[in-house]
Amino acid sequence: MDKEHVFFENYAKNWDRDRKADDRVLSSFMELAAIRPGSAILDAGCGTGVLLPYLSAAAGDEGSVEGFDYSQQMIDVAKDKFSHLANVTFTTGNVLKYAFPRKHYDVVCCLNFYPHIAEHSRDVIRRLYEALVPGGMLLIMHDLPRQAVNAIHGGAPVLPPVDILEEKLISAGFSIVMAMDTDRFYFIKVVKAADEADFVYDDEEEQPAQAHAGTHHDHHHTETKRVLNRLSRITGHVEAIKRMIEDGRDCSDVLVQLAAVHSAIAGVSRVILKDHIDHCIVDAIHEGDAEAVENLKKAINTFVK
Ligand SMILES: C[S@@+](CC[C@H](N)C(=O)[O-])C[C@H]1O[C@@H](n2cnc3c(N)ncnc32)[C@H](O)[C@@H]1O
Repeated sequence: MDKEHVFFENYAKNWDRDRKADDRVLSSFMELAAIRPGSAILDAGCGTGVLLPYLSAAAGDEGSVEGFDYSQQMIDVAKDKFSHLANVTFTTGNVLKYAFPRKHYDVVCCLNFYPHIAEHSRDVIRRLYEALVPGGMLLIMHDLPRQAVNAIHGGAPVLPPVDILEEKLISAGFSIVMAMDTDRFYFIKVVKAADEADFVYDDEEEQPAQAHAGTHHDHHHTETKRVLNRLSRITGHVEAIKRMIEDGRDCSDVLVQLAAVHSAIAGVSRVILKDHIDHCIVDAIHEGDAEAVENLKKAINTFVK
């Protein structure tokens, strides 16, 4: 057992005394999550089960909720409080090692959990991705602002700004539906594509993108590989949505997937715009190319419309 694990074992009995759960924030997480009744839900790092009654109500009689935590003491407190909920079960396990069933959960929730796996985020995100059904949803939630979370962890940036975590999730194959970093809470909702494609982690983090000669101007774009990866995923995602509609899938599921594509297109536009400013425009200014600067203004105007 490492130091952090021992910490949670020892803290379990007093966790609820010190943890101030704000019902309004947790309820608004449930509103934003819009979990469908009948869902199979995993509450990863459930602790004493603060979120379990909310998830139990959202899953309904046809659904199920699995409270999952590596601390036996935390699980025992959660069981004392919530084992009367018929659709809730409990599992003691380490998210870094546990053999989750593949393509099983409709929803995976991580409430105040991410900082504890931040060092292993790539591995954990991959594991949770594999455990989700196609079209399944991952929620990363904190009922505290990011700065407060990082302050609790001694100022270490264990909870990154949403755009940084978004990049990790996108490169894991997820599409962003919602990402909020407010002065009350932090909330990210992402979905796995609705097709059967297996997990493919982009190697964009490992390999610096190849400089690529533009087709009609002779400077370099550094983000070409990343842009092509994202566009391939968006194409696959749109194909999957077409199949959902052909199969007569629920409109609300289709809309969630469409929202994810919408946000993925906005994301790829931002990457191209940034690359353009960082390279093409810097070069153009250096070369006194007023036309390129004028074209950028037009492109920005179109983009922000
Ligand atoms: C900050 S607490 C949050 C608990 C609960 N979700 C809440 O918001 O009150 C983090 C929880 O994650 C659990 N945890 C940390 N690392 C874990 C791991 N590798 N596998 C499973 N659980 C873990 C801890 O035992 C602890 O209960």
